[in-house]
Amino acid sequence: MASNYTEVFQDPSAVEKYAERTYAPGTFSSIVSGRQAGWLRGFVPNAFPLAPVHHDFACGTGRVSRMLSGLVSVSHGYDTSEAMLQKGRELGTPGHAHLVRPGLAVPETDPVRPALVTAFRFVLNVDLHLRDQLMDFASMALPDADAGLLLVENHGNASSLRHLRKTFGRLDASTWFQELSHEEMRDLFDRHGFDLVGMQGFTLFTQGCYRNPWGPGAKAADNLLASPLSKWASDVVYIARRR
Ligand SMILES: C[S@@+](CC[C@H](N)C(=O)[O-])C[C@H]1O[C@@H](n2cnc3c(N)ncnc32)[C@H](O)[C@@H]1O
Repeated sequence: MASNYTEVFQDPSAVEKYAERTYAPGTFSSIVSGRQAGWLRGFVPNAFPLAPVHHDFACGTGRVSRMLSGLVSVSHGYDTSEAMLQKGRELGTPGHAHLVRPGLAVPETDPVRPALVTAFRFVLNVDLHLRDQLMDFASMALPDADAGLLLVENHGNASSLRHLRKTFGRLDASTWFQELSHEEMRDLFDRHGFDLVGMQGFTLFTQGCYRNPWGPGAKAADNLLASPLSKWASDVVYIARRR
């Protein structure tokens, strides 16, 4: 776990790498992101009869706001990195980008509309203190069970094929490798007065599987099976509701 997680994304070269390499067209991350977009675009209109106000915590370059374009009344992205927000503007992210200090993000709520809070690609590599910052933010945006929904991505589910890398692979110190279990996420939600109401998987396989000669087979299997086998997916989005 990077102890300087928040600072890492202040560095323009880290931002460039995230936007131009990690999410370059055809990469594992962009394929998974495409599946997430497809699912979100079906899920949100079903879950919200009235278009919600979207609050994206640790929004980065605004990946989630772009996925939800046209389906929410407005998107607000909150992040501690001006460099990430600037990249988001260059990518045409819709809505409003808020530069915030760690732990001080306050959601721009709307009294007549429900809220959809998202936090993608954040909880896995941060410590409990930063996870609590997310949950405090979500609690402000979602004060009761009728206020809306919280969606949180875990891109390192501990009960997935990815775990084999920890058991048999080589983990060098220069790359982050964390795992997060459903139980840890359930505990986090529970501690902040949220119930886990669902989970949706987006890939059973790992980045390495997409690169090897049977990569096309892994992609095809994921297209069919990641959703029905969500519990064992390496990338999962949890759906939570305030109690
Ligand atoms: C891996 S990026 C994910 C960006 C985006 N959510 C996505 O899925 O593409 C993590 C983001 O968390 C932001 N971040 C780090 N610490 C934060 C904090 N304490 N509060 C809010 N955002 C933070 C970083 O600046 C970075 O943009």
